[in-house]
Amino acid sequence: MKKSIALFAIATVVGLGCSTASAQFKDADAAIDYREAAMTLMGSHFGRMGPVAKKEAPFDAEAIRANVAIFSTIAALPWVAYGPGTEGGAAKPSVWSDAKGFKQKQDDFKVAVTKLDAAAEKGDFDAFRVAFGAVGKSCKACHDSYREKD
Ligand code: HEC
Repeated sequence: MKKSIALFAIATVVGLGCSTASAQFKDADAAIDYREAAMTLMGSHFGRMGPVAKKEAPFDAEAIRANVAIFSTIAALPWVAYGPGTEGGAAKPSVWSDAKGFKQKQDDFKVAVTKLDAAAEKGDFDAFRVAFGAVGKSCKACHDSYREKD
């Protein structure tokens, strides 16, 4: 009996979590603006590390660590803004019709970002370069399937 009450409580909390998430935005346009702003910032903080990864700029372990910390914080933001009823922007309809596949791409991305975080903490260039490349592939994999080409 106690167990089922506990399960019910968890289900309620999870349920509330979901409804609060989509209620954070006053309408679809607000959600689209939010996620596109987050993507833009993510692109900025990711892209600036490109020259370092390509050995065109020196590896400054502390600067990379600080930037990856910002990047990985921003990388957690866009997803809540893809809730039901927020179709549009430059997102393909498949984001919603294939919600499972889209979620899988988010999960793959989160794993890659966690590895980049760990590499940056270590301050090791080769680990950083490999993890950076994997994150870049993960951005592209999602964009190829779920982002409209302009
Ligand atoms: C799980 C899917 C997914 C991942 C991972 C992802 N994106 Fe996106 N991204 C999208 C979608 C969908 C759009 C289309 C914009 C929208 O949602 O309206 C987009 C749009 C963008 C935009 C354009 C924003 C605008 O103003 O329209 C940039 C820049 C961007 N992404 C950068 C990145 C970078 C850099 C990464 C990786 C570090 C990344 N994205 C990872 C799905 C993803």
